[in-house]
Amino acid sequence: MPGSTRQFARCLLGLFVALLFTLPAFSQLRNAAAGRLSVGAAVNIDAFNNTSGEPQYRPTLSREYNMLVAENVMKFDTIHPAQNTYNFTQADQLVAFAQANGMKVRGHVLIWHNQIPSWVTNGNFTRDQVIAIMQDHITTVMQHFAGKVVAWDVVNEAVSDNNGAMRTDSFWFQKIGQDYIQMAYQFARQADPNAKLYYNDYEIEQPGPKADTAFSIVSGLRQQGLIDGIGWQMHKVNPFRITSANETNAARFLNLGLEMTVTEMDIRQTLPSTPTSLQQQALGYGDVMRFCLTRCAALVTWGFTDKFSWVPGTFPGQGDALPFDMNYQPKPAYTAMLNELGGTLPAPTGLAATAGNAQVSLTWNAVTGATSYNVKRATTSGGPYVLAGTATGTSFTNTGLTNGTTYFFVVSAVSSSGESPNSAEVSATPSGGTAGFTIAFSPTSLTVNQGASGTSTINITRTNFTSGIACTASGMPSGVSATFNPTSTTGNSIAMTLAAAATATAGGPTNITVSCTGGTLPARTATLTLTVGGGGGNGGVTVTPAVASSSPFFNELQVRLANTQTISALTVTVVIQRTTGVSFSGQYNTIGGQITQSNSSTTSAITYTFRLSSGTLAPATSGRTFAAQASGSGTAHPTSGDTWTATYTVGGQNFTQTGTF
Ligand code: XIL
Repeated sequence: MPGSTRQFARCLLGLFVALLFTLPAFSQLRNAAAGRLSVGAAVNIDAFNNTSGEPQYRPTLSREYNMLVAENVMKFDTIHPAQNTYNFTQADQLVAFAQANGMKVRGHVLIWHNQIPSWVTNGNFTRDQVIAIMQDHITTVMQHFAGKVVAWDVVNEAVSDNNGAMRTDSFWFQKIGQDYIQMAYQFARQADPNAKLYYNDYEIEQPGPKADTAFSIVSGLRQQGLIDGIGWQMHKVNPFRITSANETNAARFLNLGLEMTVTEMDIRQTLPSTPTSLQQQALGYGDVMRFCLTRCAALVTWGFTDKFSWVPGTFPGQGDALPFDMNYQPKPAYTAMLNELGGTLPAPTGLAATAGNAQVSLTWNAVTGATSYNVKRATTSGGPYVLAGTATGTSFTNTGLTNGTTYFFVVSAVSSSGESPNSAEVSATPSGGTAGFTIAFSPTSLTVNQGASGTSTINITRTNFTSGIACTASGMPSGVSATFNPTSTTGNSIAMTLAAAATATAGGPTNITVSCTGGTLPARTATLTLTVGGGGGNGGVTVTPAVASSSPFFNELQVRLANTQTISALTVTVVIQRTTGVSFSGQYNTIGGQITQSNSSTTSAITYTFRLSSGTLAPATSGRTFAAQASGSGTAHPTSGDTWTATYTVGGQNFTQTGTF
């Protein structure tokens, strides 16, 4: 490829990548409505220009709408503040924004009885002068925006609320007479023959005298080819529903060959709104969208967020009239409109958050039809949320968070036709800092007798640390060794067993230091105190077997036991060989009632069992006897093959001794 072509290709690629990243993260109403009708909103210039204070205003506007209208800044008093002064600055800003974001612009408004500057009303002009002022105004404004504004509200609110009478107290009516209307449309047609010319009014959606007057005005203008559209403002009060009367009334306007736009819709309600009133409101919004889908060039709301609406200032005690709430979150009204456009996805379910170090990991259930998900975060429950990121799968990790701050998350599903409502909210508080771990013994002291062993658990507490941890021990007295199970772990505990040889030095307590390392971290140490008990490998228990009697008619085998430390569990068993004619004849012990005695016989053996009842202790003593008796006839029983076993616990250690008589 020649250099210049390659350069061009690279340029194109760059442009494509730049476009990819400058496209809004997700597009909603406007995408769902694309090719069917325009969706628009009136723009409050203060919010629009307060980009730092209202960071969500512009993104929401351009994401959701493909049409805008100036709420005030194209009105006479703003745009034409003195006879020879036109001020297009703010209106131009809106038009530039619209063009940058692929949005159409409605022009509002040329001739209206409100928001006329005093230089006009107090100027003492003659009829002809007022007509000239009107023509100059219409011509200058329309030509300034020619090609940029698709439709103009040429005359606004010319009919009064009084039984369909003209608004005779209008400055224009008083100065010019009813002809002002026709003149305005003539001037407008001349100024920009490509713009659609609208008549705009409120309460003309309802059949009645006011609608009839509006109808006859536009009929006359239509016959002269001076008008293209009818605007229904639709400032409504909740609960509002479209009825067949509205449809019939629309039909007569449409039958004139006019296009129709809902130009200033809102549905106000008494504050505070409730979940129920918001659902009611949603029915009205859904109705108007459904109505408009088959009839309107555009559906425009008078603002979009309840944070900026003319309602509270004009109708005290009322508000919440728009599709987005104060936090720019879509309300049921929004969802209802999206529904009518077939763009609804259900909210994701199963959102779960796991806090990490300066991050929170989220998972949720997939939503059928979703192409991506918007993860939104707030630092107060319920919002305002900011877009934390988008995910194509069902998980997302939000990094760069502040440890110790609680964050609230919701997730919405997105498809080409729109965005779902938000999921239920979850919260998480990231914590941690540097990765590390600590260790601690449980128990922190052990007594191990000579010839026995004892175990203590090393509990590991990890913070953002997942490496394997291994330990070594030092400081053991002679004859004591330490083993670790497991030798290394990525889990949370290691068992340390200290085994004392029979020859280990008795005494203590001695400090045993265990040192554990993991990854590249310096070692953590913990100390355990060890006492080595005496007993030479039997826990201080001496067992002496004795044959007290061995005769042709009676045997008594004794297990004599002496202990230097308290015994906490003890079982002594004697097994006598059952030679011909020999059988059980009795058993006893010198401890008493805390010993449970039992016996059993087979053809070859008699077993005598003596068991210290659980929970009782056998204190140190120089001698105890456990006796097993048998009787028989004939030759003397050969006691030499009879056996004994003593199993006991001393100082937490288990011992077993066995032997024969
Ligand atoms: C309202 C604006 O929303 C307010 O900010 C302003 O103070 C007064 O005008 N019908 C119309 C709109 O045609 O121009 C009006 O806008 C609302 C009623």
